This record gives sequence, structure tokens and C-alpha cells, in this order.
Amino acid sequence: MNFKIGLLKGDGIGPEIVDSAVSVLNKIGEKYGHSFDFTAYLAGGCAIDATGEPLPKETVEGCRASDSVLLGAVGGPKWDTLPGHLRPERALLGMRSALGLYTNIRPAKLYDSLRAECPLRADIAGRGIDLVMIRELTGGIYFGERGRREGKMGQEAYDTECYSVAEIERIARVAFNTARKRSRRVTSIDKANILESSRLWREVVHKVAEEYPDVTVTDMLVDNAAMQLVKNPSQFDVIVTSNIFGDILSDEASQVTGSIGLLPSASLGDGKCGLYEPIHGSAPDIAGQNRANPIATILSAAMMLRYSLDLMTEADAIEAAVDRVLREGFRTADILGSSDVKPLSCTEMTEKILERI
Ligand code: IPM
Ligand code: MG
Repeated sequence: MNFKIGLLKGDGIGPEIVDSAVSVLNKIGEKYGHSFDFTAYLAGGCAIDATGEPLPKETVEGCRASDSVLLGAVGGPKWDTLPGHLRPERALLGMRSALGLYTNIRPAKLYDSLRAECPLRADIAGRGIDLVMIRELTGGIYFGERGRREGKMGQEAYDTECYSVAEIERIARVAFNTARKRSRRVTSIDKANILESSRLWREVVHKVAEEYPDVTVTDMLVDNAAMQLVKNPSQFDVIVTSNIFGDILSDEASQVTGSIGLLPSASLGDGKCGLYEPIHGSAPDIAGQNRANPIATILSAAMMLRYSLDLMTEADAIEAAVDRVLREGFRTADILGSSDVKPLSCTEMTEKILERI
């Protein structure tokens, strides 16, 4: 089959890691008889430099017309002082909202071969970590009303956390459906002891849960969840949470599994087209040095095959190849831990994975 893939390479290490994932997809195409038509569009800081805006209209239109979109990372110190609506990050938020991508799936799994790199105590890591975080992606404080005004103590700024019943219902359904394919357990994370939006979140999650009597749902307060993720991460299977809590907790989940350089993500809406990206940022400190870990982006490409293109065998092949390079002891600098092997460059790691597909 032929697929149209939009590429948003973005900034920093974005271009290097997207190129790695493209070579992996081409290899998959060769091996399984598919062809991928890649079209690159500008998004983030590079788009600001070229056009004056972080998310040009052509980018949104091109991505809408694609079967799916692969993104590297956006942002960097060069654009840090721009006003909020002109920052590179707007490109991401704009894409998520323009394509209606309200579901963000972030799996975090501790590879057996990386147990030594896990910063947690051996007995905790020994129990394993294999969870998937379902983060709401187009609502909450990221998209709520915001502004600056004169307050009692002078100038103040505000952002608003707001969730509708409909927004909570649809993300809860994604979580329950995901749980049905796993161990039928959902942990819903909120701050219902303080926030009204969290109280509604909790009510609605439990209402939706009635449609899923075979799935158990447990509520957890976000501060406790942050603690439980390092104290006893093996208790989690499917986590469902709001945009901001999911942003924070998914970074934490990535560190407890060894490195943020390993975790992929999928952003989906009601249709098939999705946005796939590593959960890490643009790492400007190592950009252009061929030192980035391409694995999170390569695994994002695998998620794209699975969720948007219905190519399950092909997705499995990529994941198996990544698993093999890690088991064989190949490492990039970020997952070196205490091992004394020579770290591979981004392109060398990509080569190792290509050889095993
Ligand atoms: C993420 C990132 C983004 C977010 C930023 C870059 C807008 O941190 O995808 O987790 O906060 O959603
Ligand atoms: Mg984040």
C-alpha cells in the first residue's frame, strides 16, 4: 500500500531523529511491500524563522491531507523570549487542536535489558514497569481562558483549568477501551480534593465506568500519583488524566523507565490520522552533533503503523528490532548508565535497528 506521511522535523535534534525514523519506515516499506510518500512541512522555531509564524497554514492543510504525521521536536533558546502566541510550542498545540487530537497515548515500559539504567531501587525495578498513560490533549489549562489583569496586589496573570462532561467522557472511553486490551485496570488521576474541574472529572469517569463493568477504576490524587510512580510503579496499568497532569507525570514515567529518549507517543482524534512524536523535547544542547537517541521517534513511527495505518506486523517488527539492539547491549549516551560500552551515535543506533528489521 501507499501512504502519505507528513513530516514535521522541527528544531534542535528534531531533523536527526525524524531522518532516523524515515529510514526505518523505508526499510519496512521495502521488506513488506509498502511505499511511504514523505512531505516535510515547517513547524516550530524553523517555521518562525522562515515565515514569521510557528504553524503556517500550509502545514496544517498538508498534515490534514496526509494519512498520518510524524513530528520530531520543537523549540529552543533562540525563540524563548517570544510572546506566548508566537512561541514554537504553539505549533504543537495548534496541530493538536486543528486535527482534533484529544487523546495522547504514552506507553512507558521498562526494558529488561535496561533494568540497570532504572534509577529506582533494584527491588522496585525488579517488579517491572509497563504502563500506558492516556493524557487528555486538547482541553484543560492548556486551552482555557488566560490573560493578565490588574489585581489587588498589582499586575497578575491567570490560566484556567476547565473541562466539559463531553471532553471527560470521550477520554475516559479511550482509557476503558485500552484497559480491555490489557489488564482491565484504570487509574484515574485528578486533584479532586481541591479542584472543581477534578470533581467533575471523577464523577464523569465513574459514570462512564458503568458501561465497563469488566474494568476496575481507581481514583488517585495527582500528588500521590507522582509519589507512587517512584515508590511502586508496577501497580499501574492504564492511567487516565488531564492535559497538565499527563504532561508532568509522563515525563516522570519516562525517567523511571531509564530515559526520556526511549518513549514514543501517539496523539489521536476520532479519525485515523494521528500525530506521532517522541515525548522528549528538542535538546538544543546536543542538536546537530549526531548524539541524540533516535529510539523514541522510531518507536513513534511503530505506533503510527499500528494506530493510523493498521500495519500491526510491521509495527511489531520495529519494536522487536529495538528490543533486540537493547538486549544486545547497544546504547546511546543517554542510556549508558554505569555501563562502559562506547555510546553509539544517532545514525549508528539507527543502522543497528535497520539491520535487525
Ligand atoms: C509534551 C510537551 C508539550 C506539552 C510542549 C512542548 C507544548 O511537553 O508533548 O509533553 O506540554 O504538551
Ligand atoms: Mg511534556
